[in-house]
Amino acid sequence: MLRVGMLTSGGDCQGLNAAMRGVAKTLYELNDDVEILGYQDGFRGLIEGDYKLMKPSDFSGILTLGGTILGTSRQPFKEIDNYVNGKDGETRCEAMVRNYKEQNLDCLVVLGGNGSHKSANRLSEEGLNVITLPKTIDKDIYGSEMTFGFQSAVNIATDVIDGIHTTATSHGRIFIIELMGNKAGWLTLSAGVAGGADIILIPEINYELENVLAAIEERNKQGKKFSIIAMAEGSKSKEDSEMSSSDYAEMLKEKGYPSGTYKLAAELSKELDQEVRVTVPGHYQRGGSPCPYDRVFASECGAYGAELILKGKFGRSVVQVNNEITSLPIDEVAGKKNLVPTNCELVRVAKDMGISFGDE
Ligand code: F6P
Repeated sequence: MLRVGMLTSGGDCQGLNAAMRGVAKTLYELNDDVEILGYQDGFRGLIEGDYKLMKPSDFSGILTLGGTILGTSRQPFKEIDNYVNGKDGETRCEAMVRNYKEQNLDCLVVLGGNGSHKSANRLSEEGLNVITLPKTIDKDIYGSEMTFGFQSAVNIATDVIDGIHTTATSHGRIFIIELMGNKAGWLTLSAGVAGGADIILIPEINYELENVLAAIEERNKQGKKFSIIAMAEGSKSKEDSEMSSSDYAEMLKEKGYPSGTYKLAAELSKELDQEVRVTVPGHYQRGGSPCPYDRVFASECGAYGAELILKGKFGRSVVQVNNEITSLPIDEVAGKKNLVPTNCELVRVAKDMGISFGDE
């Protein structure tokens, strides 16, 4: 009997169910005696021993389903050594190790992003057999060229930019579209190029207000009375990037800006004789059905993860390198981030096409 635990952790995204289906179908197909335990709401389920014994039918009909059938939660890595019940007793980490053993698991599959990789790595260091799958719309998992959720989010963000284009053109307005991505600019860079944004602002390249203004004024001179700015939520001006994160958050709060996007909008409004609007698609970018690319990629990741389990290769993260699915040791992946290299091909090409990144 092979007993495999599975959990989805951190922010949800498209393709989680497709990936779990990939794991399950491969395991059921290649091994006659498999039991899968689905932990509820991410690491919360493993900490509390809250699981459901899954049936093969639980994995049917979920390929196209968004979200996660297991539920998810954020259990910050920095709290892994906190006591489960207040001041004494077991730590969260100890509880997870105990439940893994009590529930006779042979392996735990963690579908997660950066934070979840740190917790998965810790469990692996504690001696548990762990496999991780790369989930996030941010595409910021170290060591992997791709993550499932990313392409679906790019599709949605591009649709938003497309839609904003028509209204921006009609009114001759400046639109700032705030896109997700946490500290990484991948989603904004891809959607910005795909949606024909005029200015792309990402956290990896600090912008200067005067350069953003110059790019808009240049368009106005060419008779283009509207401009579209695709701005990643983590982007900052050069000046603001010198502040600590807490000082920056405090400054935004004091000035009444919900995010840096609104600060830029106010600054542009002051300088330009044009109306400026902000659009925030927010969590919609993580919602709905996975796009065909994510269905395929998530299925591949899931199937590859199952193959690792059947070969007894544990402590591995499933990743994509040179367009191929492969795996890396979890400790090489955990604790680092895949950010946009400022000199990468797509940034270079975008600049050559006249897209401003606000840095020159
Ligand atoms: O990591 C995925 C992500 O959607 C980020 O792009 C975003 O910064 C964050 O999660 C939002 O977190 P929450 O769902 O907790 O609001």
